Amino acid sequence: MVSRMPKHVGIIMDGNGRWGKANALTRSQGHYAGVQAMEKVIDASIAFDIEVLTLYAFSSENWSRSKEEVNYLMRLPIRFFKQKLPEFIRRNVKILISGNIDGLPAATKKVLMRAIEETKKNTGLIVNFAFNYGGRAEIIRAVQQVIREMREQKLELNEELIGRYLYTSGLPDPDLIIRTGGEQRLSNFLLWQSAMTELYFSDVYFPDFGEEHLREALYEYQQRKAIYEFADVYPSAR
Ligand code: FPP
Repeated sequence: MVSRMPKHVGIIMDGNGRWGKANALTRSQGHYAGVQAMEKVIDASIAFDIEVLTLYAFSSENWSRSKEEVNYLMRLPIRFFKQKLPEFIRRNVKILISGNIDGLPAATKKVLMRAIEETKKNTGLIVNFAFNYGGRAEIIRAVQQVIREMREQKLELNEELIGRYLYTSGLPDPDLIIRTGGEQRLSNFLLWQSAMTELYFSDVYFPDFGEEHLREALYEYQQRKAIYEFADVYPSAR
């Protein structure tokens, strides 16, 4: 049987703040509920044999939020990994970070570096947190490094060379990007990598997003793939 499962799924986890408001709670409580949904999505990704899950957890644009909310979001990984890191180690999950880790508060950076270090030999699901991440900044950073390389040696400028200097170097491009919360745009997420990616939008606020919603998105992805394959085999049916 042909497997049409995506290898790499990206999720723009949107709608935490609105979920908080809709439930008479604060935005931060919405983010906390988002972390619980994130745990469920990680569990489901292991069950579905997904290879890479990239989660948009903090964008470079998120710094413009209130000081209180930014502080809360910066502390979330500390709390999260304190609780979950031993489990990730045990369950063979490998943690990666895409983003400017040096631009983070020292305590947040430390906990993220430790999660990367302690899971680096794991071979199961890769959970790649896009944290302090922006797609345009990532491309600029890659181009700067490419220019430096090209000054030193003669190299052909091509997609592979740029890809080598992106945060996602070594990972397959995302096959599917899911955005929750009703908006239908990429918001600076994986701009280079999403050139050929299927996009799936869900109206569900991220804290309410669970295994069944992920399953629906994967099912839709598989149906689209089956339709493309059919059209390739029977072009006259297009
Ligand atoms: C967008 O919702 C969500 C975020 C800015 C943060 C998402 C982060 C998590 C779910 C947890 C991250 C945790 C770790 C451990 C890295 P929003 O606030 O933009 O929602 P709104 O559109 O309703 O305002």
